[in-house]
Amino acid sequence: MNSPIGVFDSGVGGLSVARQILRILPRERIIYFADTAHVPYGERPLEEIRGFALDITRFLIEQGVKAVVMACNMSSAVALDVARVLYPDVPIIGVIEPGARAAVRVARGKPVGVLATTGTVRSGAYVRAISAIDSTVPVVQQACPRFVPLVEAGLAESEEAETAARDYVEPLIRAGCGTIVLGCTHYPFLRKAVESAAGPGITIVDPAEETATMLAHILSERGILAQAAFGPHEFYVSGDAAGLRDLGSRFLGIPIRDVKRINLSAGDTESVGCRGTNSQVGS
Ligand code: DGL
Repeated sequence: MNSPIGVFDSGVGGLSVARQILRILPRERIIYFADTAHVPYGERPLEEIRGFALDITRFLIEQGVKAVVMACNMSSAVALDVARVLYPDVPIIGVIEPGARAAVRVARGKPVGVLATTGTVRSGAYVRAISAIDSTVPVVQQACPRFVPLVEAGLAESEEAETAARDYVEPLIRAGCGTIVLGCTHYPFLRKAVESAAGPGITIVDPAEETATMLAHILSERGILAQAAFGPHEFYVSGDAAGLRDLGSRFLGIPIRDVKRINLSAGDTESVGCRGTNSQVGS
């Protein structure tokens, strides 16, 4: 019950999901892994992403997590099914099915637009997930290769972000979409830019909230919700730590001081830039 929940992404994007998990389940403890040695995932081959996602899942399970959240659309698109087969005893949750569900709920007969990385668009995962729920809902996808580097560089609220958002949202509006899914976990940090590019009357769907709700149901059904708040959250990176420490503290709203760097292929860990202890749960 009191084991942590493993959450991972290529970088800081998955913190948009971690934030919702901690909002809905404030007693839970998180181990967050940012694959900063390989960010951005967006343009990489799907097979390579599958390898990264499975390595990270294994690492988190070795740390004793009670559930894994793939807080990364690309990983969810290409590695979720395999990971569930490899680790049948640990609940493993992705963000695409929850995102698709939330989108269909508010689609109101209009096409659903999906903003995502090139890889997620190429995987067709949202198209399949939405049509499995309601095959009458048309889906229009838009790849947004400029978005993740902007978020990772701390430029989510810049003029460049606004220009990129206008470029990416416009084709969806032209196609008559009434709903836009933020189909990459980095994009909630660009929500303002997307909203202002979309204009009034367009519903923006962030799969993070539905993902956290789904996690809460699964933990509750299995009787493994944390009974008491204890212990600090843990943060790992595979490469650079500064972004997670600085942007992450801001995004998550709690100070991230201690970040460990781990080389998953070599298995060695070092503490990078420890400036004290991470926040306790509930602090
Ligand atoms: N945040 C991830 C996703 O949801 C990956 C983004 C990237 O690294 O390109 O797809």
